[in-house]
Amino acid sequence: MGERGAVRLESLTRSYGRVVALDGVDLEVRAGELLTLVGPSGSGKSTILRLVAGLDRPDGGRILVDGQDVARIPPHRRAVAMVFQDYALYPHLTVLANLTFGLRVRRVRRQEAERRARAAADRLGIGELLDRYPDQTSGGQRQRVALARALLREPTVYLLDEPLASLDAPLRFATRAELITLHRELGTTTVHVTHDQAEAMTLGDRVAVLDRGRVRQVGPPQQVYDEPADVFVAGFLGSPPMNLVPGGGVLGGADDVTVGVRPEDLALDPDGPVGAAVEAVEALGSETILLTRCPDGTRLTVRTGPRPGVRPGDEVRLRADPGRLHRFDTASGRRLR
Ligand SMILES: Nc1ncnc2c1ncn2[C@@H]1O[C@H](COP(=O)(O)OP(=O)(O)O)[C@@H](O)[C@H]1O
Ligand SMILES: [Mg+2]
Repeated sequence: MGERGAVRLESLTRSYGRVVALDGVDLEVRAGELLTLVGPSGSGKSTILRLVAGLDRPDGGRILVDGQDVARIPPHRRAVAMVFQDYALYPHLTVLANLTFGLRVRRVRRQEAERRARAAADRLGIGELLDRYPDQTSGGQRQRVALARALLREPTVYLLDEPLASLDAPLRFATRAELITLHRELGTTTVHVTHDQAEAMTLGDRVAVLDRGRVRQVGPPQQVYDEPADVFVAGFLGSPPMNLVPGGGVLGGADDVTVGVRPEDLALDPDGPVGAAVEAVEALGSETILLTRCPDGTRLTVRTGPRPGVRPGDEVRLRADPGRLHRFDTASGRRLR
């Protein structure tokens, strides 16, 4: 387990006409790990997966799987299985036939193909849907069919393109946990693409943050959260996002420096150095988000406990945890030590 399936991307570039989708992507996916690739819509996530799967070609750079350049290997011979955002099931085939299709193409005998398909379907809890057609199943069920189909390929790398995006919140939460368990059991290298920063925080061993066709940072989620490499990553991971104050302002700072503080690292404190007016209060039950505005116009978002006893219009004092301030070079956006 975990011996095969290392993926290495070197200086990958891909443009579509004048649109630069990938602007020199370097990324290493370790054998057996679950890596989450996160970034806003249009940042190049799907393009990366399509290139690894061989469904598209890079303009430049290399893709290595277990040290082998895969440029000349056609998609059906690459040991990768991709799950598409829109599932890509055959509408005119039953669920069972969708599952056995790939096996039959690879000349697995019908009985054996159906046995394997049933086993994969049972594993994903869709064993009773085998006779239905895709349009007779729910979005969550179709997603499972697509995952079961990927399992049947027994690949050395799974490429999952936003597999949870179209599920409603409770189902997304449950399926996320199942994916983690599945990965733990299989130990197969998995690249999981998402635009959801919460998913990125909870899912993978490591997270890679993509912005406009470039990898901005790679690391364990907590480390990336605690030490974002630049202003983009700082603002992207975390909800509500980090407060970023150019010049430092009320947070204290210097010219050319942008100072950041996460909402949970700001506290209500009667003796706090920062005065602010509460503009809005979002009571979320387990926590409360305060949107505040300082006399100089700086807006600070504060995350505090339930029932803070604060109402819009109140004047509050705030204190930032001094050990949790982030400093960035304003010109380059890079983190300063
Ligand atoms: N086949 C294509 N033709 C033209 N533009 C494309 C094509 N595929 C992707 N793009 C563009 O490349 C950029 C990255 O796309 P994509 O990888 O799909 O982003 P993501 O999956 O992160 O949302 C986008 O600007 C997108 O519009
Ligand atoms: Mg995409």
